[in-house]
Amino acid sequence: AAAMAGGLPLGAFAQKKVVLGFSQIGAESEWRTANTESIKSAAKEHGIELKFSDAQQKQENQIKAIRSFIAQRVDVIAFSPVVESGWETVLREAKAAKIPVILTDRAVNVKDDSLWVSFMGSDFLEEGRKAGRWLTEKMKDVKGEVHIVELQGTVGSAPAIDRKRGFEEIIKADPKFKIIRSQTGDFTRAKGKEVMEAFLKAEGKKINVLYAHNDDMAIGAIQAIEEAGLKPAKDIVIISIDAVKGAFEAMMAGKLNVTVECSPLLGPQLMQAVKDLKAGKTLPKRIVTEEGIFPMEVAAKEFPKRKY
Ligand code: AHR
Repeated sequence: AAAMAGGLPLGAFAQKKVVLGFSQIGAESEWRTANTESIKSAAKEHGIELKFSDAQQKQENQIKAIRSFIAQRVDVIAFSPVVESGWETVLREAKAAKIPVILTDRAVNVKDDSLWVSFMGSDFLEEGRKAGRWLTEKMKDVKGEVHIVELQGTVGSAPAIDRKRGFEEIIKADPKFKIIRSQTGDFTRAKGKEVMEAFLKAEGKKINVLYAHNDDMAIGAIQAIEEAGLKPAKDIVIISIDAVKGAFEAMMAGKLNVTVECSPLLGPQLMQAVKDLKAGKTLPKRIVTEEGIFPMEVAAKEFPKRKY
């Protein structure tokens, strides 16, 4: 006779799938779409039941999703927080329900670090620094002021805050670098284009450099620059972040100077972490993604190797 436990054959327990509730920000960028795809396919590969929820870039929707995961008593909750602040209450609810929370991609700003077990993702501050270092090196011989316009990511989000800070930290070493305009383009192509149009209207040919917090906004801005009769990557040096395929295409077309890598392929790592948690292991508090930087000169060679 089959071994029994609680009136059910033991196999029924052994086969019970681990359930992961994941709250995604939205589908604002090529990066985000690749991130979602990575999480969905890795869950399948690892045999983890994924409850996936798209918040359409609204924090209130993420909070609702997390509450619903708690009500459904999922094994683990993971989410990519759209903004840094405002998570205390809902994270306390998850903790009270004894459901571990993993942060993916973006950090939260809470006083009590025990409200989440691990944060896996990029070092956004370092990405901003890499962008700054590339620019200061490229323009080290330029005499006179270098006028920079900045397209920021979503207001209050970890990548927007840190990419701005990291970049400024580097360029401030030389006072010739001046950020003359800085505004959010919400990480989307449409907003990137719209805000760049406004920058061009206000500053025109005064603009020497565009620093965009992601590739999508840079790609939108490239369109605005061309429509204004200027040559992207020549009249205006363009730096962005993510290293999605669209950025490589823009570099190969000679329209983008450089992209700093930010990998969205967090799915396999996340599923491994979920399994480790279920096996009673303690996760490292911080798992940092390793990343590079790709100037246009290497784009054609690197393009075939790109996975997102
Ligand atoms: O949090 C990572 C950022 O979010 C990416 O750089 C951006 O493209 C995305 O929307």
